[in-house]
Formats: sequence, C-alpha cells, structure tokens
Amino acid sequence: MATRKQESKKQEKGSGGTDAITLLKRDHDDVNRMFEEFESSDEDRKFELAAEICQALTVHATIEEEIFYPQAREAIDAEDLMMEAEVEHDSAKYLIERIQEGELDETQLSAMIKVLKEYVGHHINEEQRKMFPRVKRGELDLEAIGRELLERKAELESELGATAEDDSVDADDEDEEGGSGRSRGGMAARHKA
Ligand SMILES: [Fe+2]
Ligand SMILES: [Fe+2]
Repeated sequence: MATRKQESKKQEKGSGGTDAITLLKRDHDDVNRMFEEFESSDEDRKFELAAEICQALTVHATIEEEIFYPQAREAIDAEDLMMEAEVEHDSAKYLIERIQEGELDETQLSAMIKVLKEYVGHHINEEQRKMFPRVKRGELDLEAIGRELLERKAELESELGATAEDDSVDADDEDEEGGSGRSRGGMAARHKA
C-alpha cells in the first residue's frame, strides 16, 4: 500500500502535470486500472482490490466535492451537468458503503464491483467529455486548484490509510485462520472502526 502511494506521489511530481484536470484524470486512470485488475484476480486479491477501489473512489469524490465542483460550478453555466455529477457520486457512494460494510462472498462482491465499475465508467466519461472541457475553457486557475486537490488528497489518504493499516495488523494476527475470511473481516472491521 505504502509503496503504491509513494510511487503515485513520485509520478505526480515527476510528470509535472499538476493542473486540476490532469490530476483528476490520473485518478480516473488509476481506478480504471484497479477495476481491470479485479477481473483477472484471485479471490484474496479481489477483496484487497475492492477495499483499495473503495478508498480511491472515496478520496477522489471527496476532493471533487470539496474543492473542484464548487469552483467548476461557478466557472461554467451548467447546473444540470453539475447536479447529475452529484447524483452519480451519491449512487456510487451507496454501493461503496455496501461493499465496505458487507460480509460478502466472492460472487456478491464481484457483482457489486461490476455495477460500481459501470456507474463510475459512465461518470468518468461525463466528466471527461462534458465537464472538464468546459472548465478548461473557463477562467479558473487550474494549477492553484491542482495544488489544493493534492494537499487534500494527501490528508485524506493518510487518514484512511491509517485505518487500513490498523485493519491489516488485525488481519495478520488471524493469519492462520485462512485467506478469504481475512479479507472480508478486514473490510468489515474498517467499516466498524
Ligand atoms: Fe466525479
Ligand atoms: Fe472524477
């Protein structure tokens, strides 16, 4: 986990792309990659990936809602578009909560991740094809917004990452009990924490 985060931070700095839209698109690509990996993973990895997908989407939705959407809303005259985006976030959050709290078997988890992938895919398309181009034509300081997004993202990741690490310590203690139950327990424990 830590390694993945360190790598992604290095990438963000190294590639020089720190404007808000580049950063948000990079999040979209990251989560799409996780959805792809999910499909070809074994059961244990699926539970790990589901937790990672839920966390990545939660962080992404939060920084959009707290920082990007309010400024985009001011900059573009498209309340219908912004409202749709918020409704789409709410639908995704409903599924994310069910995934995080549930004692799911692999079939149930796979079904929920499949539907979440469809919701998120549609939403990402709407943002990238409709919202972002309009925002780009507006007069926002996308570099400044990008810095705000990065700062808040790091904060949220360390808050949520700390919770995830607590869970993984618990999971290691139960290591002898076997694989798949461990992942499910971890996700449920995170929700209760
Ligand atoms: Fe969004
Ligand atoms: Fe997004």
